[in-house]
Amino acid sequence: MLFSLKVKGYKLLMSVFKILVKIIPIPKPTLFTGAGSSLELCSAIAQMGTRIILIVTDSMLVKIGLLDEIKKSLSQHGVEYVIYDGVEPDPTYDQVEAGLSLLKENNCEAILAVGGGSPLDAAKVISISATNHKPINKLAGWFKVRQYGLPFFAIPTTAGTGSEVTFAAVVSDPVTHQKTPVIDPKTIPMMAALDGTLMTGLPQTITAETGMDALTHAIEAYISNNSTNETDRYAIAATRIIMTNLPKVVNNGHDSEARQNMAMASCYAGMAFTKTAVGYVHAIAHQLGAYYQTPHGRANAIVLPYILDYSQDAVTDRLAQLAIVSGLQTDKETNQQLAQKFINHIRTMLKQFNIPEQLEALKKVDIPLIAKAALKEAHFNYPVPKYMDQSECEKLLYKMTI
Ligand SMILES: NC(=O)c1ccc[n+]([C@@H]2O[C@H](COP(=O)([O-])OP(=O)(O)OC[C@H]3O[C@@H](n4cnc5c(N)ncnc54)[C@H](O)[C@@H]3O)[C@@H](O)[C@H]2O)c1
Ligand SMILES: [Fe+2]
Repeated sequence: MLFSLKVKGYKLLMSVFKILVKIIPIPKPTLFTGAGSSLELCSAIAQMGTRIILIVTDSMLVKIGLLDEIKKSLSQHGVEYVIYDGVEPDPTYDQVEAGLSLLKENNCEAILAVGGGSPLDAAKVISISATNHKPINKLAGWFKVRQYGLPFFAIPTTAGTGSEVTFAAVVSDPVTHQKTPVIDPKTIPMMAALDGTLMTGLPQTITAETGMDALTHAIEAYISNNSTNETDRYAIAATRIIMTNLPKVVNNGHDSEARQNMAMASCYAGMAFTKTAVGYVHAIAHQLGAYYQTPHGRANAIVLPYILDYSQDAVTDRLAQLAIVSGLQTDKETNQQLAQKFINHIRTMLKQFNIPEQLEALKKVDIPLIAKAALKEAHFNYPVPKYMDQSECEKLLYKMTI
């Protein structure tokens, strides 16, 4: 079949998604924001009548004591807790099953996720698995969840994924490492706390990479074919805040004002991309995560400029607008010049953050299969502004090899 004919089909499918997202109610969690807001959330959890809660987190966060105040606050409010700290970056079905077993053994009534996107996503799937009694692979895909999950609360400790407001959870098959997203509004937490003080100890590399993930969400949402006035507002705000504050938190992790700004920005980017979906950057980054365990944010950061180069002529005006809100306009430049300036600026940021332009792990021999999987993911899920075929995707991936 001619590629142009296929593209017509993909575009039709994406317009159906746009209508679905418009008509299906998408809840927004009650948000507590600012220094100490994680403790306000603990008080709200108690006020909801919760007697025993499962905390889903990772072992590193327990080790560095990030949960200490949260545990103390829950206890002070009379809420018992059980900790599941077995979540690892890019959580697997097994990790979700282990958390679910602990939840059942202890008759937990609710779930509190504390961590980056990995604990948040694992907790989302634990919450809906507890009430839907279905294997995880039957919940994966679009709108497969029938019952509401257990009451679910979230405290992000990275400013990256925006998972606290998105209706997606990404879990991986432990054998193939293939990421299988569960996409359903029932994965959205009831309440979340954006507490920048929990992020001041985030190492420099993770700060930069997760921040680039948030920026990628904002950009992919803004250039998506399914963008709306509402998503544009969030994407623009997120871009403006990230461009000013990400360099600050990478240089000085203890800048608590900039940390709080990043927490807000990553949430705004989440608000934008949950309705528009993402694009080729994420589609390729997910494969790099599956093949080489490249951290999500790093993979996005590396792929981002290549996809922007490719898409530039289809979204010149939009990229120019992003350049303007990023403070890059210095003269009466044309939109084309501004768009190029925006892409150049992203490359400069990557250099400043010590993120390489190529991925050392990427093997040429894997490229055809990586491209195939990325295009499949993108074409059936993401309303990209400019479609690419297999050979174009392969060419682009070759540029990312050393
Ligand atoms: N649901 C969504 O909408 C969505 C969107 C994008 C990405 N994701 C998923 O999120 C996952 C990535 O999440 P992530 O980038 O936030 O990283 P992560 O949760 O995998 O954490 C990365 C590392 O950072 C450490 N860490 C986290 N917070 C810390 C803190 N405050 N101080 C010190 N160390 C800290 C963790 O211990 C871990 O070692 C991927 O699985 C990705 O697919 C989900
Ligand atoms: Fe992401």
